[in-house]
Amino acid sequence: MLLKITQTVRMVVLVVLLLLVDHTHSFQPLFSSKGNSTTHRDITQRAVLIKTAQVCRDIAAEEGWGFSLTIDDSLTVEKVQRACSSTGTSTSVLSTVRYQTSIAIMYFTNALVDVVFALSEEHHFDDETFTGGRDVITAGVFAVKSSVKQENYGAGRLVLGQVCHTLQDFYSHSNWVELGNKSPYAALIKPDQTLENLAGPSVPTCRNCTDGNCENNLLPDLQQQGLLTSGYFNLFSSEKPAGKCSHGGSFDKTSRKDPIGGISKDDTGSSHGSLHHQAADLAVNATVELLEDIRLAVGNKKFLQLMGLSQSTVLCFVIDTTGSMSDDIAEAKRVSFEIIDSKRGTQQEPSAYILVPFNDPGFGPLVMTTNADIFKDSINALTASGGGDIPEMCLSGLQLALTAAPSTSEIFVFTDAPAKDAHLKSTITALIESSKSVVTFMLTDVLASRRRRSLQGVRPRAMSQADAQLYRDLARASGGQAIEVTKDDLSKATTVIEDSSASAVVTVFQVVSNPGKPDNFSFTVDGSLKNMTAYITGKSSLTFSITSATGVTQSSSESSGPLATLTTTGNLRRLSLNAENQTGLWEISVNSNDPYSVKVIGQSSVNFIYNLVEAHEGAHGDYSLKEGRPLTGGNATILVTVTGSDTVTVKEVTLFDSSGPTEVNGTLQSVGSGSFLVTFTDVPAGDFVLRLKGEDSATSRSTHSSFQRQASTQIKPSSISVTTQTNNTSAEPGSTISVNFTVAATSNGVVNETATGTFTIQANNDRSYTSTSPSTLTIASGGKAEGTVTLTVPSSAASGTDVTLTIEAQNADATDINYAVLRFSVAAKVTDTTSPTCQVVSTTNCTSSSSACSSLQWMFVANITDGVNGTGIESVSINQGNGTLNTSTAVGMDGMNITVVSYSASCCSQSVRLAAVDNVGNVGICEGKAVTSTGGRTLTVSHWLWISVALSIIWR
Ligand SMILES: *[C@@H]1O[C@H](CO)[C@@H](O)[C@H](O)[C@H]1NC(C)=O
Ligand SMILES: *[C@@H]1O[C@H](CO)[C@@H](O)[C@H](O)[C@H]1NC(C)=O
Ligand SMILES: *[C@@H]1O[C@H](CO)[C@@H](O)[C@H](O)[C@H]1NC(C)=O
Ligand SMILES: *[C@@H]1O[C@H](CO)[C@@H](O)[C@H](O)[C@H]1NC(C)=O
Repeated sequence: MLLKITQTVRMVVLVVLLLLVDHTHSFQPLFSSKGNSTTHRDITQRAVLIKTAQVCRDIAAEEGWGFSLTIDDSLTVEKVQRACSSTGTSTSVLSTVRYQTSIAIMYFTNALVDVVFALSEEHHFDDETFTGGRDVITAGVFAVKSSVKQENYGAGRLVLGQVCHTLQDFYSHSNWVELGNKSPYAALIKPDQTLENLAGPSVPTCRNCTDGNCENNLLPDLQQQGLLTSGYFNLFSSEKPAGKCSHGGSFDKTSRKDPIGGISKDDTGSSHGSLHHQAADLAVNATVELLEDIRLAVGNKKFLQLMGLSQSTVLCFVIDTTGSMSDDIAEAKRVSFEIIDSKRGTQQEPSAYILVPFNDPGFGPLVMTTNADIFKDSINALTASGGGDIPEMCLSGLQLALTAAPSTSEIFVFTDAPAKDAHLKSTITALIESSKSVVTFMLTDVLASRRRRSLQGVRPRAMSQADAQLYRDLARASGGQAIEVTKDDLSKATTVIEDSSASAVVTVFQVVSNPGKPDNFSFTVDGSLKNMTAYITGKSSLTFSITSATGVTQSSSESSGPLATLTTTGNLRRLSLNAENQTGLWEISVNSNDPYSVKVIGQSSVNFIYNLVEAHEGAHGDYSLKEGRPLTGGNATILVTVTGSDTVTVKEVTLFDSSGPTEVNGTLQSVGSGSFLVTFTDVPAGDFVLRLKGEDSATSRSTHSSFQRQASTQIKPSSISVTTQTNNTSAEPGSTISVNFTVAATSNGVVNETATGTFTIQANNDRSYTSTSPSTLTIASGGKAEGTVTLTVPSSAASGTDVTLTIEAQNADATDINYAVLRFSVAAKVTDTTSPTCQVVSTTNCTSSSSACSSLQWMFVANITDGVNGTGIESVSINQGNGTLNTSTAVGMDGMNITVVSYSASCCSQSVRLAAVDNVGNVGICEGKAVTSTGGRTLTVSHWLWISVALSIIWR
């Protein structure tokens, strides 16, 4: 009910607000319309870069490698990733795609708070909701920490972005800056601290602005007493408690009632716009502090994973384990071991390993680990058994991999059987489009004929051409390949797995011709590309020739020619291009009347990330991430960010459909930091991929500056619109979430109010949680129909688990489909909000008389406890200090568990900072310092402090 009201309200808002001046109700979310204002996107990115760089600097100091980057506001994604990567001696090509993608997800979910929680005061610290706002932050931080603990980094990022929004808004919407504070309000991220000096409900806080000038509208009394307040905000009513400040701006009706005016610092044009940059800078520092709290709770390594600072890929296998698969399993094992053993300890070592077995009726469990040995053990433990009875649960296994793997992963599926769960095809397609992961199928023993042969009534275990088509379609939707080989030849085809596990692999060109026809294709090779490989799949009768930029040609009959080394296995031809003379315009000419595909990859830092976005007019938000497919005949806007070079100019971004061929040109609008909003108008129906062309003016790449890149995932416009209305992003174990959704028929990108029809609805989740959904929805009038999907989280679900729900709507003749993909994290309510405390037992000293500090040791002993209602100490680690830490447990006189820490270090490193973390992620800091004595008198002084204690003093 509440949701319905919100919807209606929002519709009204949009209509009303379209007519008004563009004034937002928080820092602007993504892009600044006021030339020089700082957005949530800027604040989030700056904070992430600073904290990541600081963590890398600490790791460098610990491990003894050089870190020379200056940490200031001029950091870029490239600079930080490069500085963080200089650990090894490797000269591998650097890719920032993962890091950029992670940052983008964080600023998109940050911006989404303005849409989803538009009318929630506490999500924006409006209306003096300080306790409510703090609860939003701390509950979110607990959820992030538990996701990270479960290594669910993707889910962690979604929540982290949202939490940052609320935290950042505090600095714009309260009078913290006006009170003269120069550092963040640390109590906002510490649930065990009291929020002090809040202006009470009846305390007046503002007076009228004079002639539109709000510079001195905060009451002097309030300021003198150092009382904290925030502005009231309402779109519809001017009601507010007497004497209270408003947010301000043309959307805020309360600001037109006495006291008139507002105090927001959302942008330079706001009521307190002259303090905008100060507020934004403090919001950056506050975000850095929040990230530091998470880093202390989860440790450096997991923190960097959460930030997405890994340039290596994941190794992800989905394997059929029925009887006939023993050769395939052995090969999957061989190739993965080879990759692991050759890359272990290098920067190309996969950042995670994922394994999903499937057969019939079972699939899973999914093993996801960052430990290569655990993966090896898991793949070693796979046995091929049972079988004969095709088909298998292939797509269910693939669904688990697609929701667990980071976006843009490459997933390899090994099978020799058709899918029993083919009804999941549309779900898998939705997950592929939403994750942009690439799925390549290694299909063994596909029958050449269209019909499965039957031998004495027993169906042989083999796949027909029709069965294989499902896999080909999914491969095509994702930009992967369907490789069909005999079991004997599989080991030659798995080279594609090794190719894809190289660092910084980019797609230069890809096309699928179906039905096939003879054609010529050209593509540009730039100077940044290395180790170029071309793949051509198709019938054995297919012939081709390839021509280099220098006019040299090699035909398909030459296995080792002037341009490339060619190997043919099953339907796959792999061309490894020679390193010489690569730059310039190449041509591939294919002669075949059967379906075929061509794919050209290489290694390069220069690549791009992209996300479909939609505009929001009005008070809340400018753009947000758009789930699902764009609407046929409508406009599609894509945010494109070029990675890997600060010297790139984007010339052209198009949507390309090879079957036409159709190419739709986008118009580009630069939005800073190498990003562009690309708008396509009247997008026709089709199977498009995004192509980008540009120039790189880097002098080091003088050879050839034009470049082209292509996205892997297909973009398929749809005439069906599926939108969801939910403000749940996390769910407690044992609870049921309801998701209301609307299905609409559209034409030319807008709802067709005269349309009627019945849509088939499917709702699937990757955890097999109980879920209800209507099986159909019928549009009777107005072009829209509404439904509700429920999802019940079992009470046994662990905090930090995440669940991905896909809601699909298909039209009656099954020619069109659209979907929404929603992720929820499971988060149990946290009741232990107190940080571990530390009591120093003893500290020994260092004598300064000695010249050789390295020959002397000092020692620090402390007792750490988590309080009576605490969840218990989980870990204690050295945050600063160069010594050895030992911990043991004891039971105190009151029966409380005590973690006894003893730290010893050389007198060259005379201070220590320990971080104690309890089971839900509360962090306590314990500091000790050896005090230099001059001999004779023994002085044992220890310096320890608890953030919790210290801060309550600071904020008094
Ligand atoms: C933009 O803002 C920055 C502070 O973030 C300031 O240093 C700079 O002078 C401003 N530029 C303009 C043109 O106002
Ligand atoms: C933010 O933190 C940095 C580093 O601690 C400091 O130099 C800077 O002055 C802080 N900015 C504000 C606005 O307090
Ligand atoms: C790329 O090519 C170079 C030289 O041809 C080779 O040494 C290197 O191992 C290749 N890198 C990868 C990841 O294949
Ligand atoms: C490379 O280019 C040089 C000069 O343009 C030419 O002589 C040579 O044949 C080319 N080699 C190949 C393999 O294309």
